[in-house]
Amino acid sequence: MAEKRISSPKGLSPIKLMKPETDKGKSVLKSLQLRKTVREISDKKLSLQVLSNLLWAACGVNRKKGPFGIHGRTAATASNSQEIDLYVALQEGTYYYDPFKHCLIPVVAGDLRAMVIGKGQVNFGNKAPVRLIYVADIDKLIHSQGYQEPGLLNTEIQKSYFYVDTGLIASNVYLFAASTGLVAWFHNCDKSGLEEKLNLRVDQHVLFGQTVGYKRKK
Ligand SMILES: Cc1cc2nc3c(=O)[nH]c(=O)nc-3n(C[C@H](O)[C@H](O)[C@H](O)COP(=O)(O)O)c2cc1C
Repeated sequence: MAEKRISSPKGLSPIKLMKPETDKGKSVLKSLQLRKTVREISDKKLSLQVLSNLLWAACGVNRKKGPFGIHGRTAATASNSQEIDLYVALQEGTYYYDPFKHCLIPVVAGDLRAMVIGKGQVNFGNKAPVRLIYVADIDKLIHSQGYQEPGLLNTEIQKSYFYVDTGLIASNVYLFAASTGLVAWFHNCDKSGLEEKLNLRVDQHVLFGQTVGYKRKK
């Protein structure tokens, strides 16, 4: 199915991300020891290099030749369907993370960060530098480039797959944060509001948000 995108939002240009620094950070075991949810996050911006590292760690391409003859990603997905898209809410606008070109494509100008939290929840993270939005693209499950297993066409099984696949990316983000001195917080978000603002198709579902930044000093 064709991508439904808004044409070039005013004032925003694509952002070319930097090559990930794979030799940085604490060990996996140390990162597991440190992993936790932190909701008190400052407004300090991430450098482009740190943002690039974060997005690559979340679900970037780590192999040209992965399962079923297509590229592989840092997070596993059912039948290598790669159906979870990351949208990245920054102060100036929200972008789509293109893992293949490793760049950010502008989707909407303006600050949507306050919507990336469940309605009625206390929002500590409005000014945090980055809020990730997890979007399941059902079309990518139905037309998986990976193994075409029958479960991919069953709505209940699709749901189980896209929630698990989201969790695997979210866990990468938590570990990346713990490894590099950032903090992270996985949470609900205003799903229908964001689906409208991001101009998503009916078979694209906003699932969760995750806020990333530096711990706020008391
Ligand atoms: C599926 C899921 C949904 C969550 N939703 C929210 C949320 O909407 N708001 C929130 O403040 N925290 C949310 N959290 C964070 C959890 O409250 C937090 O992970 C849990 O208390 C354990 O804390 P820890 O991550 O520090 O181990 C969510 C976590 C998960 C896995």
